[in-house]
Amino acid sequence: MKLFIDTAMIDEIKEAWSWGIVDGVTTNPTHVAASGKKFLTVIEEICAVVDGPISAEAVSLDAEGIIKEAREISKIHKNIVVKVPVIREGFKAVKKLTEMGIKTNMTLNYSASQALLAAKVGAAYISPFVGRLDYINQEGMELVRQIRQIYCNYGYKTEIIVAAIRHPEHVLQSALIGADVCTMRFDIMKMLFDHPMTDIGLEQFLKDWEKVPK
Ligand code: E4P
Repeated sequence: MKLFIDTAMIDEIKEAWSWGIVDGVTTNPTHVAASGKKFLTVIEEICAVVDGPISAEAVSLDAEGIIKEAREISKIHKNIVVKVPVIREGFKAVKKLTEMGIKTNMTLNYSASQALLAAKVGAAYISPFVGRLDYINQEGMELVRQIRQIYCNYGYKTEIIVAAIRHPEHVLQSALIGADVCTMRFDIMKMLFDHPMTDIGLEQFLKDWEKVPK
């Protein structure tokens, strides 16, 4: 399973990239706003660090506007994937963008029917927002299971990016279900490395090593 980092903070991206486990980046308008930088600047900075798919979001709400934005955004770098919301105009736009060879990531996905439509219009990725579903008392990972089943049933190539995760357990569940990608905040990615028994064991080994005659 691929791991993407979900942020527009360049220092976090640089550090996570140095760990050797990051395959790509997802951003959204909230992340870009939090970076305090201009959209173009932040996306260019990310492209200079990460060699992998980088999602940058279009904000127009009509197909024509989304296509115009997508053409501009995709010119920034060959790794750009344009994020488009799963609204009717978004599907219309993605159908055309797919024909034009521009990769898309359909975002704000909350139902399996939306994910089916995303596959039909040839989106490269679909992003179910699991943690936000959990928040309203619906099991987010159940949506991922349904999408995996549908895509397997028909051999759709659209990749599932499990998004808006809230803890490392969501990463494990994504891998067990067979999601293609899991995108996560920097703090959750850091937690994937940790186990208290590893720390305790290492401390003991280092103490014992001191007793070895030198
Ligand atoms: C994914 O592409 C989104 O940027 C992200 O996962 C949203 O997550 P949030 O609910 O933590 O804002």
